[in-house]
Amino acid sequence: MTITTCVFDAYGTLFDVAAAARVAAREPGGEKLADTWPAVAADWRRKQLEYTWLRAVTGEHTDFWTVTQNGLDWALDAHGLAEDAVLRERLLQLYWELESYPEVPTMLGTLKQAGLNTAILSNGSPDMLDGAVASAGIGDLLDEVLSVESVGVFKPSAAVYALVTGRFGCAREEVLFVSSNGWDAASAKGFGFTTAWVNRAGDPVDRLGHPPDHILTDLATIPDIAKGAA
Ligand code: LAC
Repeated sequence: MTITTCVFDAYGTLFDVAAAARVAAREPGGEKLADTWPAVAADWRRKQLEYTWLRAVTGEHTDFWTVTQNGLDWALDAHGLAEDAVLRERLLQLYWELESYPEVPTMLGTLKQAGLNTAILSNGSPDMLDGAVASAGIGDLLDEVLSVESVGVFKPSAAVYALVTGRFGCAREEVLFVSSNGWDAASAKGFGFTTAWVNRAGDPVDRLGHPPDHILTDLATIPDIAKGAA
């Protein structure tokens, strides 16, 4: 079926979540992260995601900003940095202005020129997403920014993926859903979307029963895939 709508996960897919720790490590006051920033970033991300899944299962929803702070606090504690309130504040500030991956603006511009719908579908709370979209300068290239806050449960609840078909009034197979999170791509495929998994790290495919339709190393070929040329 023809793709009419391209929907992107935000954190890790359009926005580089490791950028906060990487940038902080280079700044005055960030010396403590000089060697450990990759591990701090990975632990922060891992705990942030684990907390979203657990909150979805238990029904104890809170917003993604709270979960992001909780994940960071765990990571700082694990690396002996729990007492550094200044570093904590700086890392959280940087999370609001994460860098987008370099190919993102051109890729979204090509999709819009081709007449496709473009959107974000993210766990992020609306104000966090507004901040990231503005800081990346891609607001004009997106038709919609959909947040899980409108359904009050995190991915991979089906209620989240249904936000897309509800907003665009399209069939599930018309949606190309793009995520760097293997579990997110698998869940979206299970929902009925066509999927592209952006596997920058060369990870194995998640064993969740719904392998991705496309596996990419970056986002540059998304317009060709959406137009059926790749
Ligand atoms: C998001 C997380 C899963 O943006 O990266 O939804």
